[in-house]
Order: sequence, then structure tokens, then C-alpha cells
Amino acid sequence: MGPVAVLCAIPQEFAFLADNLTGAEVTERAGMVFHAGRLDGHAVVLARAGMGKVNAAVAATLLIERFDCRVLLFSGIAGGLDPELAIGDVVIADHVVQHDAGYTAEDGFVVYQAGHQPFFNPHDELGHAADGDLIARVRAALEELSLAPLSAGGGKKPPRLHYGRILTGDQFVNSETLRERLFRELGGAAVEMEGAAMAQVCVAFGVPWLVVRALSDLAGSQSHFDFRQFVDEVALSSALIVRRLLPVL
Ligand code: ADE
Repeated sequence: MGPVAVLCAIPQEFAFLADNLTGAEVTERAGMVFHAGRLDGHAVVLARAGMGKVNAAVAATLLIERFDCRVLLFSGIAGGLDPELAIGDVVIADHVVQHDAGYTAEDGFVVYQAGHQPFFNPHDELGHAADGDLIARVRAALEELSLAPLSAGGGKKPPRLHYGRILTGDQFVNSETLRERLFRELGGAAVEMEGAAMAQVCVAFGVPWLVVRALSDLAGSQSHFDFRQFVDEVALSSALIVRRLLPVL
């Protein structure tokens, strides 16, 4: 059985997981860093890929083809789109969509209402649904989260967990107008810059995937300030959840 891959984009997402990896063997490839070792006794390859869809796709391909990983997880941060969600909440993707793929209208915005663009996407659906069995195991493993605090000694409340659609694009969303459109027209709970690209590679290779994102901001006009303030704290919370999931992957 191959190792579990945990893909991260930025150093804050990677740091806590890397610090807890034992016996790590470090490889550099395509300008990316891969740490292969054991996390809580599980064989894991941790990758720091950099931001965006192309980096995620390159790293995912290497994790599958070179490191023989049997399942790929993304652990990191996102901007919240659903107005019911708050900074610190965690969204686990049951579906991912690339929100910047398609064609544009006169105003320059991508036309979302048209949904899937058959001439553009080489597959039949809008985005990708997560593996149902994997999500069921994840739900079961995280059910008792509210009973057991995640952070050792921190005394903090565990984060609120949501399952929903995560949108991916090569843009940091810092706009009320776009935030509102992405929620209304594509039904996104959260937006980030890598998840759907990783998923597309996994689907192409027939490998299961999971995206876990903690909200650092709400993708509106304050998002760049909030991101800076909350990135460390929420990246840690996503990493703690991923560690909890290792036994069921
Ligand atoms: N990751 C964290 N916040 C984000 C945002 N507002 N847009 C895109 N990716 C993000």
C-alpha cells in the first residue's frame, strides 16, 4: 500500500505537518519540496507546491507517479463564500469546481450560469464529486470532534465543520461582488487556489482525493487583511484535522 500524500501550497500550511513528521527524507523536484516520512505512525509524503492550479497539478502528478501515493489530501486555508460561515470554520469538499474555467461575458466575468462547458472541459460534469465512501469515513472519524478539543492544551473550542462545494481558481478573491456571485451562481461554500486542480489529476489517474480547508478570510474586501491575521491559526486547524483522518484513509 502506497503512502498518503498531503499537499500544501504555502509554508504556513506545511509547517506544522512537517514539524511532526519523523524520519523525513527530503527531495526537491520541479522547484517543490517533498518530505517522505511517518506522521503518527502512518507513511506520509508531504508536499509544499506553491500556490495555484498548475503547481497543484504538477505536485499531484509527482505524488502519484514518483511517490506512488494511494490517496491525495489537500490541507490548507480558504476564503469563505457562504455567508453562514465564519473565519475559523473548516470546509471539507464534497465537490470541487474550477471557477475560472469557461468563457467570459462583455463585463469580463466568467459566465457561470452555463455551468459545464463541453468544448472546454475534457470531462462530462461541472467539477468533480469526492469519493462517497471516503467522505463517509471522514464524517464518522470527525463526528466526535466536538467532544475532544483539537489543540493539545490550547483549550480552544474545536472548529465548526461543514461539508460542501469548494471552488478553485488562479485568483485570490478580494471582492464582495465576486464573492457573492461565486456563492449564488456556483454554490461555493469556500474558494481557494489548488483543490480542483489536484482533484482533476487524481481523477485522471483514478486516485481518491480529499480537500480540507480552514477559513482564513471571507473573500470580500477585507480578505487580504484577515488572511494575514488568521493564516497561521487556521492552517494549524486544518493540519490537525488531517492528522485525525490518517487512520481512516
Ligand atoms: N485562500 C485563502 N483565502 C482566499 C481567497 N480569498 N481567495 C482565494 N484563495 C484563498
